[in-house]
Amino acid sequence: MSDPLPFSQACENNRQPILEQLTRLLPRPAAVLEIGTGTGQHAEYFAGQLPHLRWLPTDHPDNVWMCRQRLELADLPNVEAPVALDVSERPWTLPAFDHVYSANTAHIMAWEEVCEMFGGVAEGLDKDGCFCLYGPFNDHGEFTSESNRRFDQHLRARLPHMGLRNLQDLEALAANLGMSLYRNLEMPANNRLLLFRKTAS
Ligand SMILES: C[S@@+](CC[C@H](N)C(=O)[O-])C[C@H]1O[C@@H](n2cnc3c(N)ncnc32)[C@H](O)[C@@H]1O
Repeated sequence: MSDPLPFSQACENNRQPILEQLTRLLPRPAAVLEIGTGTGQHAEYFAGQLPHLRWLPTDHPDNVWMCRQRLELADLPNVEAPVALDVSERPWTLPAFDHVYSANTAHIMAWEEVCEMFGGVAEGLDKDGCFCLYGPFNDHGEFTSESNRRFDQHLRARLPHMGLRNLQDLEALAANLGMSLYRNLEMPANNRLLLFRKTAS
């Protein structure tokens, strides 16, 4: 009997509300780079539901194996073979992309890696492109829920470099790289979908 595929219950829970937003936000044919694909459940679901998008799954070299089998089995015509990408290894050598999607990565990466992720996105993002960053975030240095506070504690106890990021720090980081936050969407379970784009020069 083969091993079960890597699975995340959170992905099952959040995929529909995220899909509803992506459907609205990305209506035209485009290439979407996913950073930190994890189990590949989001890639499989979104690419299946949004066939006008070409999905480019990537993950850290240590973890990219997690999505490979699922995406091979799904065999979707609009999903590229997953690529190993450590966001800290710049410049990124990737096919061109129009938009970027990343879920639940900013609180797992060290802050320096978050900076590299934004740097790589800013370098490669199309002028009309969108960086969709999903997850739990703090607002003005405050937790937005008790469950987020507990989650942050749990992360920092595991590895001190992990932890919820502050929305205003991300905005300042983006601004330094010529990007701005143009939508901050409330999502279920105290999550947000943050949308960044290149600032018009
Ligand atoms: C909590 S998982 C999220 C996976 C998936 N996006 C989801 O929502 O379930 C965090 C992901 O960030 C990735 N990650 C952490 N550090 C990274 C780095 N430096 N470069 C690229 N990906 C990284 C991990 O490999 C992992 O797949």
